[in-house]
Amino acid sequence: MCGIVGYVSKKQNAVQVLIEGLKSLEYRGYDSAGIAFNNNGKMKIVKVKGKVNVLNEKVKNLKGNVGIGHTRWATHGAPNEINAHPHKVGNVTIVHNGIIENYKEIKKELEKEGIKFKSETDTEVVAGLISFIYKNNENKLETLKEVSLKIKGSFALGIIFDDENETIYALRKDSPLIIALGENENYIASDVPAILSFTNKFILLEKDEIAKITYKKINIYNKKLSEITKPVLTYEGTKESVMKNGFDHFMLKEIYDEPKVIENILQSYCFDYNIKTLENKFGSFLKYNKINIVACGSAMHAGLVGKSIIENEANVPVEVFLASEYRYNKVFNDKKTLTILISQSGETADTLAALRKAKKDGSDTLGIINVVGSSIARESGRVIYIKAGSEIAVATTKAYQAQVFILMLLSILISYQKGNITLEKANKLLKEFKKFPKEIEAIINDRDNYLKIAERIYKQEDIFFIGRKVDYFLCQEGSLKLKEISYIHSEAYAAGELKHGTISLVKENTPVIGVITDKLIDEKTVSNIKETVARGADVLIVTTDELYDKYKTDKFYSNIVIIPKTNVYKRPILAIIPLQLIAYEVAKLRGESIDQPRNLAKSVTVE
Ligand code: AGP
Repeated sequence: MCGIVGYVSKKQNAVQVLIEGLKSLEYRGYDSAGIAFNNNGKMKIVKVKGKVNVLNEKVKNLKGNVGIGHTRWATHGAPNEINAHPHKVGNVTIVHNGIIENYKEIKKELEKEGIKFKSETDTEVVAGLISFIYKNNENKLETLKEVSLKIKGSFALGIIFDDENETIYALRKDSPLIIALGENENYIASDVPAILSFTNKFILLEKDEIAKITYKKINIYNKKLSEITKPVLTYEGTKESVMKNGFDHFMLKEIYDEPKVIENILQSYCFDYNIKTLENKFGSFLKYNKINIVACGSAMHAGLVGKSIIENEANVPVEVFLASEYRYNKVFNDKKTLTILISQSGETADTLAALRKAKKDGSDTLGIINVVGSSIARESGRVIYIKAGSEIAVATTKAYQAQVFILMLLSILISYQKGNITLEKANKLLKEFKKFPKEIEAIINDRDNYLKIAERIYKQEDIFFIGRKVDYFLCQEGSLKLKEISYIHSEAYAAGELKHGTISLVKENTPVIGVITDKLIDEKTVSNIKETVARGADVLIVTTDELYDKYKTDKFYSNIVIIPKTNVYKRPILAIIPLQLIAYEVAKLRGESIDQPRNLAKSVTVE
């Protein structure tokens, strides 16, 4: 996905505002960037390959009062200056987030009309289409309406016409766009962090709506081009909530936010630790006899942990799907199946497509989402917000933990609603969360141990994570964290599966990270780990104090992280923290770009 920002004012500070906004959006994509601004009545465009800092060096002394900016995660065309946005064709300059599926056909038609293109992007084709249609009908709103009907795919567009270059037009379909309101200045942005330095008042532009924005007026039109009014929302967070606040990286700050996030969730949904309060907030799940969970990446890993706990504790069958597979496979849905979509951004294209498929198949849907008003949140039958606050680091940590915690609370609620546990038992389980933020803090604070372990493994090129049952699911998340920020190749394996092939890769000093928190199968996992030790592996284990006592004389490991013995609902959230922080320390030792890893973006809004 990409980041869009736009600004209209009478003041000559557009360049600074656009650069600051793009810096706050860089987590959305950062392989190239550019701005277009009204410089003494003429549109000036400056674009670079690389990050916003590189762009700022070229524009920092320039002036303008209106402009649009873009930071890119390349989909069509290599990340270079030519393909960077904004794109200008004729008298139309645009920035775009999304993917136009029929751009090739449109490009052919426009080339027949003599329009020339310089880049490989779908975005430049949209600029050409707007320019071509506008030249024929000379009506901007009619033009944008016709364009939004002609282009297929997802888009959020910021547009400036040469003949009205103190106005920004905006429209969207499936890619997010907000309009923010200032004092005699207004903004557009892909996401709230871009404008929090200036205002916290914003309007959510909906699908097929068109906005016309000047410094003093915002007009919004529906798809029939009738003017409509929209509610002005206030963002609850602060600029600080999207700043690093003294931490070296957003990822580290967000791990340290985890206790507060759990507290937020408890206060929001069961402040009195009463299951009836939680039931009022979450609703009823009594009618469902099956749950499908659909998500991508870490959100899918959260779903796996949820599966394990809901099946074992609430006795409801749960199937977990990768959204990119779900959307193309045959899925058995019916009125008694609840489909849960988990997504931090609420904009992940595959998960959004899966939601639409589930609804079409007649399944009830529930979104477990972080970003308020995001596409998946708005289109889900029900939504439970995870209240994790803005998560800027591409590698998710606090939002993943919040997703898991919401699933834990849901499991307790379903157990109670299905009559598997009494009201007293349910309330007792909720009350045990009173000290949970403190318990999380204690695990986070064991930083010296994580650094010691990271120093032992950071030069390795292959690392294995092994575990069984929910520990195997934690291994999958721990492995992804390590891979995506340190670029070390790692794999998560069901401990019992290693000997069916992959153990051939284990040689002298290969790091193997064993997660052993389930005392029902600890001995099996320990024997699998010892099979790797016999081949020279260098073993770290993450285990509970209860299991540590059992194995402390049997030194088959070189390093150990011990978490306190807790109930099944807390254990997965505590046990992942060492893996999050070890990944962070390893990436830091390797000098990698932790918050913005190469090739990645915070939300993948394209297939
Ligand atoms: C995890 O660290 C990654 N950022 C990625 O796997 C992410 O979880 C996945 O892309 C899903 O994103 P979403 O939660 O916004 O849908």
